[in-house]
Amino acid sequence: MFNLNLYQEKLTTGFIGQSIKYFPKLDSTNTKAWELISENAKNGTVVITDNQTSGRGRQANKWMSISGKSLTFSIILYPNVLPNQINLYSLIAGLAITDCLIEYNIHAKLKWPNDILINSKKVGGILCKSKISGGVIKSIVIGIGLNVNEKITELPEELHNQATSLFIDSGKELQLEALLANIINKLENRIQNIDKTLTDWKKHCSHLNQEVTFHTGNKIVNGIFKGLSLAGQAIITINNKKVKFDSGEII
Ligand code: BTN
Repeated sequence: MFNLNLYQEKLTTGFIGQSIKYFPKLDSTNTKAWELISENAKNGTVVITDNQTSGRGRQANKWMSISGKSLTFSIILYPNVLPNQINLYSLIAGLAITDCLIEYNIHAKLKWPNDILINSKKVGGILCKSKISGGVIKSIVIGIGLNVNEKITELPEELHNQATSLFIDSGKELQLEALLANIINKLENRIQNIDKTLTDWKKHCSHLNQEVTFHTGNKIVNGIFKGLSLAGQAIITINNKKVKFDSGEII
C-alpha cells in the first residue's frame, strides 16, 4: 500500500504533486485523471494506484504492471500553451525520469517520442494526451508507467529480451514513494526550464544519428534519426531528405 507520508517527506515542489489522489486499485490512472479534470482537479494533481488493471499504452497497446512492484501514475497540468508544445511535454517527462534515475546511479536512455530504456530494453513508457480549447492546450494528462521492483521471473517470458525493471538493472529494491516524489521534483524543475528540453533530450537519446526503422501511419520507412524540431518532432533523413514526424514509432 502506497504510504503518502513517505511520499510527502521527499516532495520539494511548489505545485506538482502537492495534491495527490491515491487509489489502491484503478483501471487506468489516465482515465481517472480525465475524470478528475472534469471535477476541476487542481493544476499539478498526481493520480497514483498500486494496482492498475487496464493500463493503456501508446498505439492502442496495453500497459501491464504487477501490483505494488511498479509506478503507474498520471499528472494533470493546465499549461495554457500553444498546441505545438504538446510533444515537448512528453519529452520533458522522459527527461525528468532520466534526471531522477541518475541520482540512483541508473543511466537510462530515451527513445523518441517517450520510451525509457536501460541497456536497450524498455523500463518505462509515457502516454501524454491533451485537450485544446480556444487555440491553447487547456489540459494535459501525462501518464507514466515505470517498472521498478519486478524480478526477471515476474516479467512475461516473451518480454525478457525487450523489457526490464530498475531492480533487474541495479539489483536494488527501491522505495516507490520516494522514487515518485523524486520524479515529480525533477518534472517541476524541467517544466521551469523548458528551454533546455531539446538540447538535453538529444544528450539522452538512444538513437541520435543512427539508422532507424520508423513506423508512421501505415508506412514503414528507414532513415537516419537526426534530432528534434523546435516543437519536439522527430527529424529523420530519408533518401537524403529531412522529414519531420509528429508521431510514429521507432521499431
Ligand atoms: C507506452 O509506452 O506505450 C506508454 C505507457 C504508459 C503507461 C502509463 S501507466 C500510468 C498511465 N495510465 C495508463 O493507463 N497508462 C499510463
